[in-house]
Amino acid sequence: MANRWKNDLSARDVTPEPVWLNRRALLAGAAGLGLVGTGAARAETLEPNSWEDITTYNNYYEFGTDKGDPARNARLLSTTPWTVRIDGLVDRPGDYDFADIMAKMTVEERLYRFRCVEAWSMVVPWNGFELADLLNMAGVQPGAKYVAFETVLRPEEMPGVRYPVLDWPYVEGLRLDEAMHPLTIMATGIYGRDIPNQNGAPLRLVVPWKYGFKSIKSVVRITLTDTQPPTSWNKANPREYGFYSNVNPEVDHPRWSQATERRIGGGLFSARIPTLMFNGYAEEVAGLYAGMDLTKFH
Ligand code: MTE
Repeated sequence: MANRWKNDLSARDVTPEPVWLNRRALLAGAAGLGLVGTGAARAETLEPNSWEDITTYNNYYEFGTDKGDPARNARLLSTTPWTVRIDGLVDRPGDYDFADIMAKMTVEERLYRFRCVEAWSMVVPWNGFELADLLNMAGVQPGAKYVAFETVLRPEEMPGVRYPVLDWPYVEGLRLDEAMHPLTIMATGIYGRDIPNQNGAPLRLVVPWKYGFKSIKSVVRITLTDTQPPTSWNKANPREYGFYSNVNPEVDHPRWSQATERRIGGGLFSARIPTLMFNGYAEEVAGLYAGMDLTKFH
């Protein structure tokens, strides 16, 4: 993409939130919202949620199922050193050190709508790099059709995995074209700071046009395959959670409507807002699903 910038932040160079917001306002005014890709640029007109909202209202079941559990418990997770195994149908399989990955990747800001399947949403200013860049680093082979992801599993650091809520480790998957799409990122920061453990440190997937559960946290393994990989929520309840999980206001969850969402941080009495097809990114991604029955392939 044309507007990428090289990350110059380290753990020591924290951008305080007001400075970040100010910088964003300046950029928006000066560059006509040209900072990032078009879908993200539309999201630029939205107010991002606060650091507080984003880091205290979480789903990370390895640390407990209450929204406040990850913020309380995820400090137990040690994230240095961290390696990501990239294997399967790639030219250069191996264990990639996270610090080495960061040295090679172009980290940018992406302000994305984030829509959970539970019908709440946030707007999050992620810092991250395109998943495509990481996959190209490993060299995707022609036979690859899908990408499988796996979260770290450390029972001694993850109190939630004592409970069989899901079949651990948490796993997710994308079709290769979804994985290579420029909107698909591996997030490593929020508001210019390192991503906190409860949000999936040190790197987590973000696919902004899909329900949040696709955005798997604390990734330790990425496998290129020729068959559709299993996904945690689909394994737990195949009727309620499909492989694709694209945000779609017209296809309801069997137990609730997906037509509207509650924006976190809007206050207790805030009105629900209409959910947008593909979470507002239809212009960029609808073509990936041309001719597919989105009710069947939900
Ligand atoms: N990844 C793992 N490993 N474990 C989880 O429980 N929850 C998913 C997703 N990734 C989850 C996960 C769900 S349901 C959502 S909505 C998002 O993470 C929440 O991300 P956030 O806490 O950063 O908002």
